[in-house]
Amino acid sequence: MHADNWAQKAKSLGYRSRAVFKLIQILEKIKKLKNPSLILDIGSAPGGWSHYLKDKYPSSEIFAIDLLEMKEIKGVNFFQEDLRNIENIVQINQLKNEFCLVISDLAPNLSGIRSIDEANIYELNLLTLEQAEKFLNDNGIFIVKTFQNSNLKKFRKEMENIFKIVQTAKPAASKKQSKEIYLYGIK
Ligand SMILES: C[S@@+](CC[C@H](N)C(=O)[O-])C[C@H]1O[C@@H](n2cnc3c(N)ncnc32)[C@H](O)[C@@H]1O
Repeated sequence: MHADNWAQKAKSLGYRSRAVFKLIQILEKIKKLKNPSLILDIGSAPGGWSHYLKDKYPSSEIFAIDLLEMKEIKGVNFFQEDLRNIENIVQINQLKNEFCLVISDLAPNLSGIRSIDEANIYELNLLTLEQAEKFLNDNGIFIVKTFQNSNLKKFRKEMENIFKIVQTAKPAASKKQSKEIYLYGIK
């Protein structure tokens, strides 16, 4: 299906972004997720992923963080903050080793200068992985957006140091020509 059609489908189902289908398709691949009680959504705005997860798992508690504002989603605890300052969010920090699922669709603004953009993505990927390590419980699952570039192998290795299983996913709803790709790790 073309990207515009995914966008239309998202709209018709009342979701805020077509990104929701990327998450659905990744979760179909993982299969293992059973009623997560606590979820951390990093880079959550405009809210497609949080919204979908709240609909699917109404009893789960979701914490979401983004640099940008996010319109309220009932039952989702949103914090407008840079991931780099996540330590300032007391409500999240008191839940170390408690989360079943940490997801990150975070995408930094690109400068167009490849070396700078790749370094920036890598730094934010590592920071996201650090949060997964800190917040996931013993059976936790981590899903992270990254990009096909010279740091991808290195980042995957970092994930392999933490997770028993690490896999790649390129969901159908992700534009073929886009270098974005998702990795997931299962403890
Ligand atoms: C592709 S969007 C996420 C879409 C979301 N998954 C959805 O379903 O609606 C990427 C988000 O990452 C956020 N972001 C980028 N850098 C960030 C940072 N340093 N801290 C927090 N959020 C960041 C952007 O503001 C943007 O909203």
